[in-house]
Amino acid sequence: MASKYALFLLLLVHYRSATCDREHPGFIRLGSFLSPANHSTSWLSPSGRFAFGFYPNGDGFSVGIWMTSEAENTTPWTSEAENTTTWTANRDDRPVRSTAMLELTLDGRLLLRTDSRNSKLIASVSESASYAAMNDSGNFILYDKDHHVIWDSFSFPTDTLMGGQYLPHGAALLSSMSKSNRSTGRFRLEMQDDGNLVLYPIHTPNISLDAYWASVTQGDRLDLHLNSTGALLLIKNTDSTVRGTLYGGSSVSNNSITYRLVLDSNGILQLYSHSFNRTVVYKTSLEWSIPDDKCSVKSFCGFNSYCTLDDDQPVCRCLPGTNFVDMDQKSRGCERNFTEEWCRDSGRNASSRNIVPMENMGWDDPPYFQAKMQEDDCSKSCLEDCDCDVALLDLDSYCKKQKLPLKYARRNPKASSTAFFKVGFEGVKEKQAGATVPEVPLPTVIIRTKDATVLLLVVTLGLVTWSCVALAISGLFAFKLRFFEYRKLLDRGDIGLSQELALRSFSYKELKRATNGFKEELGKGSFGAVYKGSFSKGKRIVAVKRLEKVINEGEREFRAEMRVIGRTHHKNLVRLLGYCAEESKRLLVYEFMSNGSLADLLFRSQRRPDWSERVRIATEIAKGILYLHEECDAPIIHCDIKPQNILMDDFWTAKISDFGLAKLLMPDQTRTFTGVRGTRGYMAPEWQKNTPISLKTDVYSYGIVLLEIVCCRRNMEVDVQRPEEIVLSSWVYMHFEAGELEKLVRGEEVERKSLEKLIKVGLWCIQDEPALRPSMKCVAMMLEGITDIAVPPCPTAASL
Ligand SMILES: *[C@@H]1O[C@H](CO)[C@@H](O)[C@H](O)[C@H]1NC(C)=O
Ligand SMILES: *[C@@H]1O[C@H](CO)[C@@H](O)[C@H](O)[C@H]1NC(C)=O
Ligand SMILES: *[C@@H]1O[C@H](CO)[C@@H](O)[C@H](O)[C@H]1NC(C)=O
Ligand SMILES: *[C@@H]1O[C@H](CO)[C@@H](O)[C@H](O)[C@H]1NC(C)=O
Ligand SMILES: *[C@@H]1O[C@H](CO)[C@@H](O)[C@H](O)[C@H]1NC(C)=O
Ligand SMILES: *[C@@H]1O[C@H](CO)[C@@H](O)[C@H](O)[C@H]1NC(C)=O
Ligand SMILES: *[C@@H]1O[C@H](CO)[C@@H](O)[C@H](O)[C@H]1NC(C)=O
Ligand SMILES: *[C@@H]1O[C@H](CO)[C@@H](O)[C@H](O)[C@H]1NC(C)=O
Ligand SMILES: *[C@@H]1O[C@H](CO)[C@@H](O)[C@H](O)[C@H]1NC(C)=O
Ligand SMILES: *[C@@H]1O[C@H](CO)[C@@H](O)[C@H](O)[C@H]1NC(C)=O
Repeated sequence: MASKYALFLLLLVHYRSATCDREHPGFIRLGSFLSPANHSTSWLSPSGRFAFGFYPNGDGFSVGIWMTSEAENTTPWTSEAENTTTWTANRDDRPVRSTAMLELTLDGRLLLRTDSRNSKLIASVSESASYAAMNDSGNFILYDKDHHVIWDSFSFPTDTLMGGQYLPHGAALLSSMSKSNRSTGRFRLEMQDDGNLVLYPIHTPNISLDAYWASVTQGDRLDLHLNSTGALLLIKNTDSTVRGTLYGGSSVSNNSITYRLVLDSNGILQLYSHSFNRTVVYKTSLEWSIPDDKCSVKSFCGFNSYCTLDDDQPVCRCLPGTNFVDMDQKSRGCERNFTEEWCRDSGRNASSRNIVPMENMGWDDPPYFQAKMQEDDCSKSCLEDCDCDVALLDLDSYCKKQKLPLKYARRNPKASSTAFFKVGFEGVKEKQAGATVPEVPLPTVIIRTKDATVLLLVVTLGLVTWSCVALAISGLFAFKLRFFEYRKLLDRGDIGLSQELALRSFSYKELKRATNGFKEELGKGSFGAVYKGSFSKGKRIVAVKRLEKVINEGEREFRAEMRVIGRTHHKNLVRLLGYCAEESKRLLVYEFMSNGSLADLLFRSQRRPDWSERVRIATEIAKGILYLHEECDAPIIHCDIKPQNILMDDFWTAKISDFGLAKLLMPDQTRTFTGVRGTRGYMAPEWQKNTPISLKTDVYSYGIVLLEIVCCRRNMEVDVQRPEEIVLSSWVYMHFEAGELEKLVRGEEVERKSLEKLIKVGLWCIQDEPALRPSMKCVAMMLEGITDIAVPPCPTAASL
């Protein structure tokens, strides 16, 4: 059919003399060219409705296809005074100057000459074309000498599907920056292989947490088709059967109407009909559009901001306590207008901060803590918790505490949940006297970077500090057996007599004295505050952690738990020295770690650890986790492996902390603790999917930490040059796939072989599918070079 049509055109053209080739619509011979400089800007379709060629873009020109439109507006939806662009060639290239030339060369290539030296192929095909045609359906086609289509623009859609066009399974429409700037924008419409048509923000994994609309259709390899009467269909390509109808279209076929489906720059998918008056669109109407709620488009507003409708147009507002990162680009999100130091420095003194409640807020980001609470308690609990930036009290009166950044916050008039935002007052940044913290240098103003994710540091800081405290006690017991403290212990018979120190049970009074009345808070971790303490007249320093969020548990169970932790002995684990369980009080005494956390070392210190040091640390962490998983009495799933939980001792040996505590946070033993534990970014996808948590969950977190160690950057950085760099794992995979590993270490001198090894291990560990992740044993073997490492697949490949 197509070839007949083309043949017909061919004859037609030959019939009209060859001299007017270029003026003749629809058919383009070899040797034809266009150039804005001498006013030959386009090749028209036979009806003159569509044109292919140069259109003005910014201060230059781009090559594309458009419909000629008239300024006339008949519905409030149409503001299209200009021609409607339906396709752009090489959309992310810069516009060319008016001296550029587009040529269908004599050897059958479609070439854009930007100047006398540079040129670029518009259609990259190996075969050479015999002629080209601008089709009346809006398709630009290259034919070979047998009139077969060798290339057509419909096969490379940008943000638009025209009537008659298909979006094959596995392909996507990518929105444009704006109506006038056609380069790749912020949203995508994926025709997934599983038959589901889904809208996502552009640089996100293909998971439901990130989706903001889905057709919820199913079927193997369905294609999306917009037929010529405007029906939007899901079609099985093998037998052309219709498996789903998203929109029915018009009942009658009308040649003067053309349909256009576009993913607009705000992330809304819209279907328009255009009525032509001969060659010009004189009426445009919106037929169908999803999602209905423009504010439900995820990522329309950036981190820490939410969307509201203002005169039916979506606008972004900052959450309380934050300001826009960039006033001119509000969609870039918001950042804190104060630092976190005030929280730590003033300890539990809440007068420097306040809570601002807000009705009907909601988000999908998983909380780090949740429990049933009254409204007042929820607000108060967040106010007093340095880790808490906002608490959400939901319908079932679950108080869900959360750290910033919030990714997909939204205001939902239907929900009746209340959010409590913590805001800081001005002038509380100065440290208060008396709260000096030696040993551990508190983070300086670096925290005040633009990066909203930096807020995660709060946790870090807490853990760092407590860990520092921990080191002291161990030495005491190990070497100075004659100390008074120890003799006292012996008298009480609380301590094992082996050379290795057994776990000791302390009284609350003892710990209160050791910490000088819990005076010096080192920080706050995910379980509660950590205080510095000392025994033996200050000779032995320890870290005392006061557990606050432990679900009430009997003393006996708690002691049993502690004994399990106490039995672990490994040089890459922070040692638990003792505990206290009195009435409702639960405290843990750890060795003091003097050199802070891995997070400090990687992200905060002036000096990046050099490559060999980073390799050593990565290996030490792997050994620690391997011990927890396979070498101690009962396997321990850590559940919260992250750089903040890896502490550095005097000799910069990496030690894992907080292991064995995950169980204490479980509401009850029969329920999985989905959403309760873990830190976003390090959490394996199964946390969100309600699938069982296993040892492989730690492997995932380890993989993320490993990539962070390799690249010396956080797993999420908002303040990056290009959006694809935001998420570390996709950034790493992108460069790995492209074979550009050196870009990941930003020019640093590293041994290429070991870099490749670490990256490959990391990518295997972060596979979405737990079964694909290696065991820790296998990881350790790969790191030591005992096992060969296969080329890892794309980490998200399994969840498509
Ligand atoms: C149009 O411009 C191109 C290059 O700028 C030139 O080679 C060609 O001769 C011009 N054609 C006409 C008809 O002016
Ligand atoms: C379109 O937007 C991109 C990204 O913001 C920008 O780099 C480019 O210069 C813009 N192009 C034009 C023609 O304005
Ligand atoms: C629209 O396209 C036609 C050719 O199809 C062209 O003559 C006209 O200048 C264009 N209008 C605008 C505003 O670009
Ligand atoms: C060209 O357009 C006509 C209708 O305008 C359509 O029937 C035909 O299939 C199109 N050819 C191709 C190859 O897209
Ligand atoms: C999402 O799925 C599509 C195929 O359906 C694939 O091309 C794309 O790379 C996937 N994106 C991510 C981030 O995994
Ligand atoms: C488009 O699809 C609809 C719904 O399946 C159907 O009724 C209509 O006939 C189709 N139009 C064409 C031109 O095939
Ligand atoms: C096609 O649509 C146009 C505009 O809506 C209308 O004026 C015309 O009568 C229609 N033609 C047919 C054959 O239905
Ligand atoms: C169609 O175009 C002609 C002239 O090109 C004009 O007279 C007529 O009013 C137009 N019809 C509509 C409905 O715009
Ligand atoms: C809390 O802070 C305020 C002002 O910074 C101070 O006046 C007050 O004494 C502090 N209270 C306690 C208990 O530290
Ligand atoms: C931060 O912004 C809030 C409003 O969102 C304001 O009340 C508060 O005073 C500001 N704090 C600082 C330190 O500027």
